[in-house]
Amino acid sequence: MKTIAFFNNKGGVGKTTFTFHLGYALERIGKKVLFADLDPQCNLTAHICSEDIINDAWGDDGNSLYKAIEPIVTGAGDVKIVEPYKVPDRNIWVFIGDLLLSDFEGELSNAWTQILAAQERGFRVTSSLLRMIKDFGSNNEIDYILVDLGPNLGSLNRAILLGCDNFIIPMIPDLFSLRGSQNIGRVFAEWIENYNFAKRRVKEMDFELPKGEPKFSGYILQQFNVYRKRKTKAYQNWGDQIPEYIQKYLIEPLTSEKLSELDLIIDLDNYKIADFKNYHSLIPLAQESQKPVFELTSKDGVIGGHYQYVEDCLKEFEETANAIVERIS
Ligand SMILES: Nc1ncnc2c1ncn2[C@@H]1O[C@H](COP(=O)(O)OP(=O)(O)OP(=O)(O)O)[C@@H](O)[C@H]1O
Ligand SMILES: [Mg+2]
Repeated sequence: MKTIAFFNNKGGVGKTTFTFHLGYALERIGKKVLFADLDPQCNLTAHICSEDIINDAWGDDGNSLYKAIEPIVTGAGDVKIVEPYKVPDRNIWVFIGDLLLSDFEGELSNAWTQILAAQERGFRVTSSLLRMIKDFGSNNEIDYILVDLGPNLGSLNRAILLGCDNFIIPMIPDLFSLRGSQNIGRVFAEWIENYNFAKRRVKEMDFELPKGEPKFSGYILQQFNVYRKRKTKAYQNWGDQIPEYIQKYLIEPLTSEKLSELDLIIDLDNYKIADFKNYHSLIPLAQESQKPVFELTSKDGVIGGHYQYVEDCLKEFEETANAIVERIS
């Protein structure tokens, strides 16, 4: 089982849409997939679950991820085990997100201070949510846990990232997306260094400590204009700069002297995993139908020339799913 986080500090770069499509594609090639919606905006949840299911998950005795950590937030106790929603007839599960998950940020911020002081409670609280998610994964022979995160460098993302095996960065080749990626490597390196320093100072605990060794495993390039079957000039220029950015702002900080005892990158010549093309109006159609673009049919409103996009999307994601399996296994 591998736990993969999808992250970019810049919002709206397609993290959620890509994660959703990749999960369904991995399932199509025979994998058992568990999504965890750890972005309090809940866009991934909305992509998969009906409003009734979400409403139940947020109600009394509900099973959203907030319900799992509610006892910690209110001071009533330890993490509560909740069950993910299973997509009917598919090997796909999702831990339902919750807008109230942001209430956990403050608690996690205190827990981080406790970690830095090598106190047991800090490790326990910080690891609690992902531990619960991973326990479900290992008890149910899940192959991939795909974690969607909000676009910020806050304490929830820090807590989750430290327990993931891999992370992937979806990027749009534009000025803002590149700027947004400049501090990811530096901040992650600092978190990992501090965490591992504290971890070496503590004794064994009665639960498994997060490894604190998430590996940078590549990036996804979003939103090419493929209408004319070639990249437009403006996109091309920014896209060409990405390998340099990756080297300077991710690889270098994650392989610095201070972190030399850890293995924080998958060593590759080319960090680009795939292009995620611009599917225009098929994306809102997919959201409405709660299906990936590559499973849309005429019943969902696909017409004429758009079938080509549906087919292209299937091919693109089958290749991407295989590339991920090859890279991360
Ligand atoms: N391949 C695509 N083609 C066309 N539109 C897309 C594509 N991917 C995403 N979009 C659209 O771009 C917007 C942002 O996508 P998405 O919500 O996946 O980004 P995000 O990075 O998860 O955002 P946030 O940071 O808010 O979580 C959405 O409106 C989505 O419908
Ligand atoms: Mg999102």
